[in-house]
Amino acid sequence: MSRVVLGVSGGIAAYKACELLRRLQGAGHEVTVVPTAAALEFVGVATWAALSGRPVHTSVFDDVHLVPHVKIGQEIDLVFVAPATADLLARAASGRADDLLTNVLLTAHCPIIFAPAMHTEMWLNAATQANVRTLRSRGAVVVRPDVGRLTGPDAGVGRLPDPAELFAVAVAVLEDPSTAARAAGQDMAGLKVVVSAGGTREHLDPVRFLGNSSSGLMGWALARTAVLRGAEVRLVAANVGLPAPPGTDVDAVSSTADMAQTMAVAAKEADIAIMAAAPADFTPASSSQTKIKKSGDGGLELSLVQTTDILAGLVAARTDPRQILVGFAAETPGAEETLLGLGQAKLARKGCDLLVLNEVGHNLVFGQDDSQITLLTKQGAIGPFSGSKDTLAHQIWDEALSLRARR
Ligand code: CTP
Repeated sequence: MSRVVLGVSGGIAAYKACELLRRLQGAGHEVTVVPTAAALEFVGVATWAALSGRPVHTSVFDDVHLVPHVKIGQEIDLVFVAPATADLLARAASGRADDLLTNVLLTAHCPIIFAPAMHTEMWLNAATQANVRTLRSRGAVVVRPDVGRLTGPDAGVGRLPDPAELFAVAVAVLEDPSTAARAAGQDMAGLKVVVSAGGTREHLDPVRFLGNSSSGLMGWALARTAVLRGAEVRLVAANVGLPAPPGTDVDAVSSTADMAQTMAVAAKEADIAIMAAAPADFTPASSSQTKIKKSGDGGLELSLVQTTDILAGLVAARTDPRQILVGFAAETPGAEETLLGLGQAKLARKGCDLLVLNEVGHNLVFGQDDSQITLLTKQGAIGPFSGSKDTLAHQIWDEALSLRARR
C-alpha cells in the first residue's frame, strides 16, 4: 500500500480524476485529494471527500495545527496532478506556493507526475512548453496529452489521457520510482521505435478464423512507456480492442501476412523494433470466399501452411547496424526442457539482439496486468523481473538502449 496525493487543478477534465482516484484505491493505495480552488468549480469537495474517504483541503490555512503542507509532502510516495492546467504547470515551474497543492509540490520528496490537459494553443504555447521542460529537468514526469475532442466543439492535442493510461503510469512509478527519472530525462527522445502487438487472425472463410488469446497489453505497455520517455512510437496492432495509447501512430493489421508487410516497412525507419505480437505460425492453405457449410455428419479437415517468420525477416533485412531487434518467446517447457534452454535456442535461431522470455499457460501472462520476464542476450540472461507490464516494459527499453549504446 502506498500513500498518494492526487492533485487536481481547475480544468473540465477534473471529472476524469475521479476514476483515477477509484483505480488507485482499488489497487489498495491510500489517496488524499488536494484540489486547487479552481478545481472545485468543476468537482466539489463533497465528491472528493466521499470518494477518497479522507478530508479534503485546498488551503494551507485549514487544520493549521497539523502543518499540512509540510506533513503531506513528507509522508507520501507519489504526487499525481491530473488534470494539470497551464496555470498549475506555470505555478509549479516557478516554485509558487500560493495554495496547498503547490506547497505539497515544493515539500514532496517523492516522484511527481503531471498529466496536463488544456486547449491546444495553450499546450503548444512556448511558455507552457518551457514550463514542461523546467519541470522535467527537476525530475518530474510529464505525461503527453492525448489528441481528440476538447471542451468545445473543436479537437486537437490537449486532452487528458484515459484514466486507465494514467493509472498504468502511476503503477510503474510506484513499483519502481527510478522509472520517473527515465521519463523525466526523456532518454528516448529522438528515437523512432516500432512495436507489434496483439494476436493475428488467419481466416478460414469470411466469418471464421484461427486466432490466439494475445491481449495486446504488453505491446500497449511498451508503446506507452516509450512515449513517456520521449520516443516517436508506431504500433502495429493486430485485433487489439483497446484505445491507442496517446502519442502513438497505430497501423491496424489482421493476419500474419498483413503484419509482416507493415512491419517490414515500419522497421526500415526504426531505431528499435519489438515483436511483442503473437502472429499465427500457420494459416489455412486456402481461404473460402463463402462461409463453409456443414456436409452431412462429416467433420472438417484443415490444411495449414506455415506463415512468414516476421522477426527473422526483420533480422535478414536489417541495414542499420545500430538497429536493435527484439523478440518475445512464449514457452511451455516439457519435462526434459528448461525455459532458459528453450529461450537461448530461440535467440540463436531468430538472430535478434534481445529475447524477452516468459512462461505462458492458461491465465498466465495473456490478458494479465502483471507478468514475469527474463531478458536474454548473447551475453546471457538478466532477471527474472516481475511487476506490472509497464514496469517490465521499462526494463525492456533499458536493455534495448544499453545494447544500442554498446554498438
Ligand atoms: N514471430 C514472428 N513471426 C511469426 C511467429 C512469431 O515474428 N510468424 C515472433 C513473435 O512475435 C515473437 C518471436 O517471433 O517475438 C517468437 O515467437 P514464438 O511464437 O515464441 O516462436 P515461433 O517463431 O513461433 O517459434 P516456435 O514455434 O519454434 O516456438
